[in-house]
Amino acid sequence: MVLQMGLQTGIIITKMVPQMDIQTVTDIRMVTLNLDSGVVTPKRRLGNSKRVNIFARECYIVKSESLKSRNEKEKERLNGVLLVGIGGNNGSTAVGSIFANKKNMSWRTKDGVQTANYFGSVTQASTVHLGWNGEEQIYVPFKDIIPILSPSDLIIDGWDINSANLYEACQRARVFEPELQDQLRPFLEPIAPMPSIYYPDFIAANQGNRANNVIPGSNKQEHLQHIRNDIRNFKEKHQLDCVIVLWTANTERYTDVRAGLNTTAEEVSPSNIFAVASILEGAHYINGSPQNTLVPGIIQLAEKHSVFVGGDDFKSGQTKFKSALVDFLVSSGLKPESIVSYNHLGNNDGKNLSEARQFRSKEISKSSVVDDMVESNRILYPESKKPDHTIVIKYVPFVGDSKRAMDEYICR
Ligand SMILES: NC(=O)c1ccc[n+]([C@@H]2O[C@H](COP(=O)([O-])OP(=O)(O)OC[C@H]3O[C@@H](n4cnc5c(N)ncnc54)[C@H](O)[C@@H]3O)[C@@H](O)[C@H]2O)c1
Repeated sequence: MVLQMGLQTGIIITKMVPQMDIQTVTDIRMVTLNLDSGVVTPKRRLGNSKRVNIFARECYIVKSESLKSRNEKEKERLNGVLLVGIGGNNGSTAVGSIFANKKNMSWRTKDGVQTANYFGSVTQASTVHLGWNGEEQIYVPFKDIIPILSPSDLIIDGWDINSANLYEACQRARVFEPELQDQLRPFLEPIAPMPSIYYPDFIAANQGNRANNVIPGSNKQEHLQHIRNDIRNFKEKHQLDCVIVLWTANTERYTDVRAGLNTTAEEVSPSNIFAVASILEGAHYINGSPQNTLVPGIIQLAEKHSVFVGGDDFKSGQTKFKSALVDFLVSSGLKPESIVSYNHLGNNDGKNLSEARQFRSKEISKSSVVDDMVESNRILYPESKKPDHTIVIKYVPFVGDSKRAMDEYICR
């Protein structure tokens, strides 16, 4: 059996072995194991040979570096995240969840006592199939396979155009149970968002009365400098090795992309400014909303400064299911001809998306997940003609953050 995994971390395992204690694998450098003699022969130094419990005919584990020590090194680094839109439902829920996990909080719900966990997190709650050890399938936590931080180790701050502190923001979001909100209060109340950039042309007009925490003036160059200073101060204050800026603010309208146009002040959006400020400060930038922040000039700038930029909407709910389902259907030889998605939601995201230009950004992002699958199969789609794909989003304030999604797929 040949198994290759995690090449980016330098692991190659050929011939999985029975009775291998997976925890020890991360400590081995390069070994040959011989069942006949029962001898474990290091081809190179065995990192932690005493803990190896392997009975196999042959096994080669080649690693460029001990993952465990890389993980530890990673943990020594201080990493900070700056959320744009920290006072929103995503922002306040993310920060509250981290405190709830850090402080090991429990609270009563109508179904019993709930304890904080990271269920729903790809890195914290999923496992990876490593292979068959002769007796059973081996699965290891994703977070133990590559050097990765726990969210609890992150230092977090952020901006919002609304001045509510994070306790008020959690109350407004109506995501956490009241007893959890009370426990979080001492940690969240002192966190007030930094003022942010507000250009009314880019988000829905219905957000106007929320904008009471904005950087004054209208000079976009000065706004850029302001955000750069915020990032630099955050980095210096906490002595951080790495800063990530994550846009989780409202969906903006699409910017018109034409050569030269995006250098004019008019067609520069708040998210464009955050992305450029991040790149110039060496902070990685992730776009969690659907708008086309990463216009060609910004990508070029990121390449020039060797800064990671990415993201095109979180695609975490209905869109995630759609990606998985369309992949499944097309990979099974079925041809989706019509996809109709209906959503309703009553949070501030829904309110913002109830205006046409912001909805259009979301519609483009939700539709695009089907495109790759269409391109991948010339048998089903010889002329690349996409399926009929309709997306409806309705704003129903009463349902708050409890969103509903219904999809219909018709295949041939
Ligand atoms: N929650 C999800 O399941 C999900 C999934 C995919 C994508 N998204 C996207 O994530 C984004 C955030 O969602 P949400 O539910 O937290 O929305 P939200 O409306 O609750 O939060 C957005 C926050 O951004 C603030 N804001 C707006 N413009 C800003 C600016 N220029 N600078 C700083 N702050 C600004 C608002 O005041 C608000 O507090 C939306 O674009 C949404 O479409 C959410």
